[in-house]
Amino acid sequence: MEQLKSYLEEHKERFLNELLDLLRIPSVSADSAYKEDVLKTADFIKNKLIAAGAENVEVCPTDGYPIVYGDKIIDASLPTVLVYGHYDVQPPDPMDLWESGPFEPVIKKTERHPEGAIYARGACDDKGQAYMHVKAFENMLANDALPCNIKFMIEGEEEVGSENLGPFLKANADRLSCDVILISDTSMIANDVPSITTGLRGLSYVEVEVTGPNRDLHSGTYGGGVGNPVNILAKMIASLHDDDNHITIPGFYDDVEVVSEAERKAMNEAPFSVDEYKEHLDINDIHGEKGYTTLERTSIRPTLDVNGMWGGYIGEGAKTVLPSKAYAKISMRLVPNQHSDKITELFQKHFESLAPKSVKVKVTPHHGGEPVVTPTEGIEYQAAEKAYEATFGKTPIPQRAGGSIPIVALFEEVLGVKTVMMGFGLNSDAIHSPNEHYGLFNYYKGIETIPYFYKYYTELAKS
Ligand code: BES
Ligand code: MN
Ligand code: MN
Repeated sequence: MEQLKSYLEEHKERFLNELLDLLRIPSVSADSAYKEDVLKTADFIKNKLIAAGAENVEVCPTDGYPIVYGDKIIDASLPTVLVYGHYDVQPPDPMDLWESGPFEPVIKKTERHPEGAIYARGACDDKGQAYMHVKAFENMLANDALPCNIKFMIEGEEEVGSENLGPFLKANADRLSCDVILISDTSMIANDVPSITTGLRGLSYVEVEVTGPNRDLHSGTYGGGVGNPVNILAKMIASLHDDDNHITIPGFYDDVEVVSEAERKAMNEAPFSVDEYKEHLDINDIHGEKGYTTLERTSIRPTLDVNGMWGGYIGEGAKTVLPSKAYAKISMRLVPNQHSDKITELFQKHFESLAPKSVKVKVTPHHGGEPVVTPTEGIEYQAAEKAYEATFGKTPIPQRAGGSIPIVALFEEVLGVKTVMMGFGLNSDAIHSPNEHYGLFNYYKGIETIPYFYKYYTELAKS
C-alpha cells in the first residue's frame, strides 16, 4: 500500500488535470441542447478506462444516453466488485449565481476546504467521485496491487431518473454479475468525521396542472367571480401539510418503517450542530415534522416538497391577469417500506379530491425510485469500515442519506447483490446548486481509501 501512496503522490497533478478536463465537458442530461457533450463525456470515460488498463471497454447504447462499461478480470475464482457512477450532471441554472463558470473549473480555498476545492458542476456529483475510482484502479493496476476482479458501469442518465439502466441491467445480468456494488455518489459527515452511507430515500415525482377559465382573463373584470388556479393551487399545496408538518395524504404513512428507539438514539449521536446548520444556510430557524430531529427528518422520514411552481405573469413589472393555468412540480422522498407507485397513486387521488369544482386538475407522474437500506453486518460494510480506518485513522459512522439513487434498489432486485456506498462529498458541497465544489482533500483521500476496500474485501471474502 506504500507503493500506491507514492504513486498517487507522484501523479497527483495529472489526476487533478484529468478531472478538470472531464468537468469542462457540460454533460447535462436533462437538456437536449447538451446532447453532443453528454456523448463526448461517455467517450472521455471510455478512453480513460482504457488508458488505466481496463478491458472490454465499451460505450453501450441505450434508448437514452449510453452506459460506459469496462472490466479487468484477473482470476475468475476471485471476488468481483462492480463500480457504479454517473457522468451526467444537473443543469447549471441559475447561471447568475455562479461565481465562476460552471464548466470552467477553478480551485478556491474555503472554510471547510482549507486545502482548496474544485468549483464546477459535477465536481462532487458525480464526476469527481466517479473519477476517483478510475484513478484508484489505475493506481492498483500500475502497481500490481489489484487483488480481485473489477467491473465499471458509469451511466449518463442518473440525474434524469436512470430509466434505461434498469432494462440494461436485466439484459446484461451475466456481463454485470458481481459480488458487491461499490458507489461513491453520496456524502460523509465531515473531513475529520468519515461516514458510510447505509441508506437512500426513494422518490415519487409528480407534476400538477390546475386549469381555471379557458383563457387568461382581466383580473379586474373577472377577478372575484372566477376561480384563480394559482390561488387555488397554492391553497391545495398548503393543505398537504398540517400544523405539525405531517403530510395529510390519507395512507401516506401506512407502510413507513418504524425505526427502533435504539437506532434513533444511535443516529442522533452522530456529530451535528443545529446552530451551524442554520448559519450555513442563513436561516433563522429549522423546520420539519414534529417529534423528529433534523437528522431524522432528512433520512428516516418521508417528505413532500414543491420543487417549482409557476403560472400567470412572471415577467418584469406588473400585468393584471387572472391566469388560466397554474403548475407545480412536487417530489416526495420515501423511506422503507413505502413504494413509489403506491405513493404516486395516493397523491393523485388525494390531490384530485382537493380541487374545488371551479378548476380542473391533472396529475402527471414523473420518475420514481425505491428506498434502500444497506446492511452493516456483511463483509462489504466491514471492508469499507476498515478502509476508512486505514486512511482516516477513525471508524466511520453509518449514516442514512436523504437523497436518492433509484438504481440501487434494482441492483439487489436484478443482480441479487448488496451495495456499499463510500461517499466522499460533504453536504455543504452545493450539489445541484450554484457553486458546486469538491474538496481536493476529498478527491485524493478517496483515491487513497478505495484500494483498501478492495484489499480488505478480498481478504474477508477468502476467509
Ligand atoms: N448523488 C445524488 C444522490 C445523493 C446525494 C444521495 C447526496 C445521497 C447524498 C444523485 O445524483 C441525485 O441527485 N439523485 C436525485 C434523484 C434522481 C432521480 C434525479 C435526487 O436525489 O434528487
Ligand atoms: Mn449523483
Ligand atoms: Mn445528483
